[in-house]
Amino acid sequence: NFAKDLAGKKILLSAGGTIEPIDPVRYLANRSSGKMGYALAEVAQSRGAKVTLVSGPTALKAPKGVEVINVKTAREMEAEMLAHYATADFVIMAAAVADYRLAQVYEQKVKKVGETWQLNLVRNPDILKHLGELKQQQLLVGFAAETTELVKHATEKLRQKNVDLLVANDVSRKDIGFGTNDNAALLLTRDKAPQETGKMTKQQLANLIYDRLLELAKERE
Ligand code: C5P
Repeated sequence: NFAKDLAGKKILLSAGGTIEPIDPVRYLANRSSGKMGYALAEVAQSRGAKVTLVSGPTALKAPKGVEVINVKTAREMEAEMLAHYATADFVIMAAAVADYRLAQVYEQKVKKVGETWQLNLVRNPDILKHLGELKQQQLLVGFAAETTELVKHATEKLRQKNVDLLVANDVSRKDIGFGTNDNAALLLTRDKAPQETGKMTKQQLANLIYDRLLELAKERE
C-alpha cells in the first residue's frame, strides 16, 4: 500500500496482552500474541499516520517510526491510553486486557505448601468502555473475540462501549485468531449491515479497518 492517505492522522493503538503479577516470580497472562495490534501499527505508519502504540509484553519488534510505550498491567495500559487520548483521531483497542487482577500482590514468593491455592481476584477497569465514555472527536475501535453468537454479542459490545467500529472474530476457529497470521472478521458499525471480511492476513485486515475509519471520518465532515 503506497497511498499516504492517513497523513495528518494521529492514531493511538493498544496491542498484546496485559499481565497481572501474583508474586515476584509469577503472573497471570493470556494468549494474545500482539500480532493484530502490531500489524495495525505497521500499516498505519506505512499509510502516513503518526502512531503511538501502547503495548503489553510481546515477542514482536515495533515497526520503525512508531512511538512505543511498554506496559505490563491493565491499569498501566489504561493510564497510558488516557494520557494520549485527547489529541488522537483514531483509537484502536486491539489489546487483550486482563479482566481480573490479584486483589493483593504477594510481596514475597509464595511457597508451595498447600495442596490447593486460592487466588483472590478483582475486576480490572474496562479501558475501552472508559474511552467510549470520554469520546469527543475520536473514532473508537474495539475488538471482540467470541465463541458463540458472534453478531449478537458484538452488536451489544458496539453499543455498550460506545465504539464506532467493532471488529469481531470467532476465536473457536483454529485457523484464525490468537497467535496465527491470519484473521477473518466481521466489521460492525452503527449505520451499515455487518461486513464479513473472509480469511485474510492481519495486515490486510488492518488496511480494511483504516479504509472504514476514513469513510466514517469523511461522513462526519
Ligand atoms: O468485553 P470484551 O473484553 O469482550 O471486549 C473486548 C474489547 O474491549 C477489546 O477491544 C479490548 O481491548 C477491550 N477491553 C478493554 N478493557 C478490558 C477488557 C477489554 O479495553 N478490561
